[in-house]
Amino acid sequence: MAKVNLSIVALGVMLLFFADTWAQNPRKRLAPPKSPKGQCCDDVRSLKVQVANLTSILEELSRKQETDLLKVVRQIMELDQQNRQQEARVTEAESKYSEINNRVEIMQLQTLQSATQTSSDALYDCASLYSKNYKISGEYKLPKDEFLGTPELSVFCDMDTNGGGWTVIQRRKIGLTSFKRDWKQYKGGFGSIRGDFWLGNDHIFRLTRQPSVLRIELEDWVGETRYAEYGFFTVSNELNSYKLFLANYSGNAGDSLRYHNNTNFSTFNKDNDKCVDHCAALRKGGYWYNCCTDSNLNGVFYRYGEHTKNTDGITWYGWHGPNYSLKKVEMKVRPVGFQP
Ligand SMILES: *[C@@H]1O[C@H](CO)[C@@H](O)[C@H](O)[C@H]1NC(C)=O
Ligand SMILES: *[C@@H]1O[C@H](CO)[C@@H](O)[C@H](O)[C@H]1NC(C)=O
Ligand SMILES: *[C@@H]1O[C@H](CO)[C@@H](O)[C@H](O)[C@H]1NC(C)=O
Ligand SMILES: *[C@@H]1O[C@H](CO)[C@@H](O)[C@H](O)[C@H]1NC(C)=O
Ligand SMILES: *[C@@H]1O[C@H](CO)[C@@H](O)[C@H](O)[C@H]1NC(C)=O
Repeated sequence: MAKVNLSIVALGVMLLFFADTWAQNPRKRLAPPKSPKGQCCDDVRSLKVQVANLTSILEELSRKQETDLLKVVRQIMELDQQNRQQEARVTEAESKYSEINNRVEIMQLQTLQSATQTSSDALYDCASLYSKNYKISGEYKLPKDEFLGTPELSVFCDMDTNGGGWTVIQRRKIGLTSFKRDWKQYKGGFGSIRGDFWLGNDHIFRLTRQPSVLRIELEDWVGETRYAEYGFFTVSNELNSYKLFLANYSGNAGDSLRYHNNTNFSTFNKDNDKCVDHCAALRKGGYWYNCCTDSNLNGVFYRYGEHTKNTDGITWYGWHGPNYSLKKVEMKVRPVGFQP
C-alpha cells in the first residue's frame, strides 16, 4: 500500500519537474503562447496539491504502521507476562499440593520407622523407600542414622520413571535459582527440593557408595525429551575432589558425560579442571569440568528466546550442541540391580 503510494508520489514529482521545465523554458527562448501558459500553471498547481495530498497520506500511513507495530509489541509483551504469571501460579499450586501430600507421607514414614527401624534396614534412599511400599513420587525425609553416619535429609523420589526408586540429585526447570555457587554450597547442596536444586556432593558421594545407576533426563524448548543413562556412576569424597567415575552409557541423548569421566569437581573458587582456562568461572557452574565441557548441566538457565545465544548455558553437546541451553534437566540415581 505504502509502496504504491510512494511510486505515485514519484510519478507526481516527475510530472511536476517536466511540467515546470516545460513551463519555464519556453518563456526564456520563445515567445510564450498565450493560452497554454495559464493552463500549464493550473496543471502545476493541481499537481502540487496532489503531491502534497499524497505526501500527507503517506505520512499518515507510516504513522499508522508504527502505532500498529507498537500495539503488536505491547500485546506480545502482555501475553508473555500472563504466561509467566500462570506458570508461577501452577508452580505454587503444585508445591502446595505436594506439601500437603508429603506431610501425610512423612507422618506415615515416621510411624513406620519408630516401629521398625534397625540399623540394618535403615531407609537411606528412594529405592529402599520404594521397596517399603512408598510408591508415590514426591518429597521424603530420610532420617538421621548414627550407624551409617548420615544426617537427616530431604530428598525427592521419582517413583514413576522406568520402575521408580530414583533419588533425584539435580533439577533445573524454573530457572530462578543460580547455580553459580562456591565449593561449600556444592558440597552441602542448595535450592529447593521441589524446584531447582543440587542435592550436594557429600550426599551424592554417600548415595553412590553402593553401586549406582545415573539417569539424566533432558527437555528442550519445543518439549522434546531425551535421556542418558550410565549403568555405573560414583563420585569420590571431598578428599578426592568428588572425582567422577562413569561407565556403560545407554540412551538417546548422546554420551556427553564421558568426556567428564575421571575428572575432579570444580567451582569458581576451586579450579580443579584439566586446562589453563578456568572452566567453572567461564561456564558459570560447578561441575566435573575437563577442558572444559561436553555438557554443562549446572550452567546458566536461559529462557526461551535467549537460549541459543550463549555457551555458558545448560548444555548437552550430544543433542543440541554448545549453544543451546535446555529447558529442563533431572539427574537421578538408584542402586544397580534395583527391582521394582
Ligand atoms: C486528497 O485525496 C483524497 C482521496 O484520495 C480526497 O478525498 C481529498 O479530497 C484529497 N484532498 C485534496 C486537497 O486534494
Ligand atoms: C558394564 O556392563 C558390562 C556388561 O553388562 C559389565 O560386565 C560391567 O561390569 C559394567 N561395568 C561397570 C563399571 O559397571
Ligand atoms: C584431583 O584431586 C586429587 C585430590 O583431591 C588430586 O590429587 C589430583 O591431582 C586432582 N586432579 C586434577 C587433574 O586436578
Ligand atoms: C571412565 O573411565 C574408566 C577408567 O577409569 C573406564 O573404565 C570407563 O569405561 C570410563 N567410562 C566411560 C563412559 O568411558
Ligand atoms: C556459539 O556461539 C559463539 C559465540 O557466542 C559462536 O562463536 C559459535 O560459532 C557458536 N557455535 C555454534 C555451533 O553455533
